[in-house]
Amino acid sequence: MDDLTGLRLAAIAAAKAQPEQTFENPRVGAVIVKADQVLAVGWHERFGGAHAEMNAFHHLGAARDAQGATLYVTLEPCAVRGKVAACAETIRDWGLARVVIGDLDPNPATHGLGVQKLRAAGISVVVLDTDDSRQLNPAFYQYHEQHQPYIQLKLAQSHNGYVSAVRGQRSKITDAVADLDVHRQRARHSAIIVGSETWRIDQPRLTVRDVVLTHQQPQRVVIDRRGRLAHEPAARLKDWLVYTENAQFAQQPNVVLMSAGLPGVIADLGRRGMQSVMVEGGPTLMRSFLQAQLWHECLIYTADSLLANGVSGIVLPQLPDDIQRISHTQRQRYINQEVATCLQASRKPLVV
Ligand SMILES: NC(=O)c1ccc[n+]([C@@H]2O[C@H](COP(=O)([O-])OP(=O)(O)OC[C@H]3O[C@@H](n4cnc5c(N)ncnc54)[C@H](OP(=O)(O)O)[C@@H]3O)[C@@H](O)[C@H]2O)c1
Repeated sequence: MDDLTGLRLAAIAAAKAQPEQTFENPRVGAVIVKADQVLAVGWHERFGGAHAEMNAFHHLGAARDAQGATLYVTLEPCAVRGKVAACAETIRDWGLARVVIGDLDPNPATHGLGVQKLRAAGISVVVLDTDDSRQLNPAFYQYHEQHQPYIQLKLAQSHNGYVSAVRGQRSKITDAVADLDVHRQRARHSAIIVGSETWRIDQPRLTVRDVVLTHQQPQRVVIDRRGRLAHEPAARLKDWLVYTENAQFAQQPNVVLMSAGLPGVIADLGRRGMQSVMVEGGPTLMRSFLQAQLWHECLIYTADSLLANGVSGIVLPQLPDDIQRISHTQRQRYINQEVATCLQASRKPLVV
């Protein structure tokens, strides 16, 4: 089997991982091949769980089958002990002849070190710089290469483009099936952001529900530029992170002074280790993110039903990249091509 075919099989395995389960860990796939036969396949299934290489190894008929085999893996085996033992160290003892890697790990704690450890053990290692891992893990790459979170915008609107029926009141737009999809989206992110008007009117919980989680709930964030929430009871803002330009309000616990607008908020969330954020409206805040080019991806859920009147949603100045039908809702996914192109241009050269 040629190396690109082996890596393709590993990428197909990686794509089986569900982003709401792997959370801030990358989706990685691994295949063990000997004498042109695929002996075992594995992928990283959930945050905190076994890595792809280990899952493939455990699917072998016997541990000795790995001797003289080639391991194909979409992302460089990790070099540091974290929630599980360092894969590069464990793999050294399997008796593999070769390891073929799709891409180096963008995380500086592992970048190049996994390869070094394997080579030091006398294993032949090749890095082919394929794009699968990057395509499968946009937030992981964005965070480790740019030190800023990946930003996904999300809004639900009626068939005729309203986000609520009456200004100042909450309206239910989507049905339970589409709502479950939203909860799955939430489960992928380190933080969820809303604007202060949405916080006051909708009083959203912003938690992940109806999805089994092996990781923590996302951090809840509200952007309250003027500080209208300053006099809310402390209990109501417990566990929320608030960003405001109101210096007095910013004296309170968990309230951060916004001194550099929305880019400053995103940079601060990056410093707090947030790998990806979801902005769930309202439309005013979303327009500000769009205008500032502070977004990577946008999901618009358009229900089949109409609202007679209300608060207008948003219209994106580009065609959707993907359209999916979810029961009585159409989900359109837009990718910010401008940002994607910039990221591609700023990629670090491969060093192996
Ligand atoms: N259907 C849906 O998916 C959905 C989702 C969410 C909300 N909603 C509905 O949308 C309505 C509320 O939305 P809305 O558009 O009125 O308000 P909003 O977006 O929830 O809140 C606006 C907030 O964003 C801040 N902001 C705006 N631009 C900013 C910028 N450039 N930099 C920093 N902060 C900025 C505002 O600051 P200031 O303090 O300076 O004003 C304000 O705090 C409600 O009816 C709600 O039910 C619907």
